[in-house]
Amino acid sequence: MTRHQIVASVLGADYMRLGDELAELEAAGVDGVQWDVMDGRFVPNLTFGADVVAAGRERVDLPFEAHLMIEEPERYVSEYVRAGCDTVIVHAEATVHLHRTLGLIAEAGAKPAVAINPATPVEAIRDVLGDIDLLLIMTVNPGFGGQSFIRSMLPKIARARAMLDQIGSTARLEVDGGIKAHTIGDAARAGADVFISGSGILGHPDGKAAAVRQLRHVLEAEAGAA
Ligand code: DX5
Repeated sequence: MTRHQIVASVLGADYMRLGDELAELEAAGVDGVQWDVMDGRFVPNLTFGADVVAAGRERVDLPFEAHLMIEEPERYVSEYVRAGCDTVIVHAEATVHLHRTLGLIAEAGAKPAVAINPATPVEAIRDVLGDIDLLLIMTVNPGFGGQSFIRSMLPKIARARAMLDQIGSTARLEVDGGIKAHTIGDAARAGADVFISGSGILGHPDGKAAAVRQLRHVLEAEAGAA
């Protein structure tokens, strides 16, 4: 059974103290950080350039994922790898030649990963499942934190799990969007093993460490019940 991983999205962090927020997330016990990179075109929001990620790289030792919610992500893959990202996630909807873009990520020395939006069937990326280390199923329409988990994505997560298992893939299955204590168990039961949480951790009233403990408690209960 793949150990479940909790990865914090920093989209909702206090940007005036981003370095401290990263250090607090590390102390809270997250397994990694996801940088939600947005270009105002692919999604209606603008966020982190590679220089911001590189500055964060100096503050913590956590694995970094770059979630490139940008058009033609192939243009920026090497920048985010140089900035210190271990995994680079591109959207199948944003690059014409997905297979080639995934190869670019691997050639740059990072783990290639693909994300699909809620309306994109997982079957659309069936033919690159053998070329990725991580598949991200969006459980919100990307662009903003704090949105509600789209429950109709649960069967899609299960289909993705079945497809990965069918080819014997060791790729991790990640979900992103609306992951909180009341939704993470359902996503785990459907077959996800990496959970991106932004507002569920950064906005938790009892703080980051309590939020991570609560999420892990739900996952452990789910694993025990499986
Ligand atoms: C897409 C972003 C968000 C973010 C997590 O809009 O990728 O999903 O990471 O936001 P929460 O956890 O607040 O839904």
